Amino acid sequence: MTSEPDVPPGVDPAQPSAARIYDALLGGTSNYEADRAAAERVKAHAPEMVDSAWANRGFHQRAARWIASQGVRQFIDLGSGLPTVGNTHEVVRQVIPGAWVVYVDSDPLVLAYGRQLLGQDPAAAVILADARQPDEVLGNAQLRSLIDFTQPVGVLITAVLHFISDDSDPQGMIAAYMRAVAPGSYLALSQATADQKPPQAVQGVTEVYTSAAGGGYPRSKEEVRKFFEGLEIVPPYDGAEPDLTWVGLWGADDLEMADSEGSRWLYCAVAKRPA
Ligand SMILES: C[S@@+](CC[C@H](N)C(=O)[O-])C[C@H]1O[C@@H](n2cnc3c(N)ncnc32)[C@H](O)[C@@H]1O
Repeated sequence: MTSEPDVPPGVDPAQPSAARIYDALLGGTSNYEADRAAAERVKAHAPEMVDSAWANRGFHQRAARWIASQGVRQFIDLGSGLPTVGNTHEVVRQVIPGAWVVYVDSDPLVLAYGRQLLGQDPAAAVILADARQPDEVLGNAQLRSLIDFTQPVGVLITAVLHFISDDSDPQGMIAAYMRAVAPGSYLALSQATADQKPPQAVQGVTEVYTSAAGGGYPRSKEEVRKFFEGLEIVPPYDGAEPDLTWVGLWGADDLEMADSEGSRWLYCAVAKRPA
């Protein structure tokens, strides 16, 4: 019998959440029966979704580490998800010890578990907020006590935008974050797509996320590229043009090994805010 994690205030274990379904796909233990059932339904439509979650997580980590290697010392991780292997503050501190990280998520379980994980860490915080409200997020007192807006910031928003509909103006939202941060800041973004995928699988997966987690909005390559307007996309791997790629390929040493059906569910890129 699996023992279920505690239920913090504000969490309904019977209602699956995007964060907990993702945790279940990654083989984590911060999820409930309803989340595991939803993850199973996702896998029934697209068995490669476990690989997809790992490919996305790998992109998140490689991109964060690469941004730190450009000398960026502070990060805002929007829609950060539940603590898992290789959290953002852990990977960026492999490059810049003491780097500052603010995690932002709208799921109260992320707040509860994130606080537990971070303990008394003076250079990291987790805040419960809706990424669709940039003014609220950027005005948060805890965030402002850690992030220096006169210095470059790494803004990470990976595997989040496909839960945000066009009605919420995700493009305007990204632009607001990137306007607020100093020139020399970076954006790392990934987003699910239906391009090149069997329509039945797309429909099935989207239905699960719509009923279980409030929505699923895959976007085309051109739609994802619009999120980078006004920014300078960096080449995703040695010898590539600066453009979007599949999550598995970004920063990969062995492109052949990294190319998989799972990886091809999400586009990604890293881009710089020019001076
Ligand atoms: C699939 S997980 C991705 C986690 C992590 N970014 C990664 O790539 O490994 C999506 C996360 O986005 C969060 N999320 C979805 N919509 C959000 C919103 N409007 N504001 C803040 N977080 C949101 C969910 O709660 C969940 O933790």
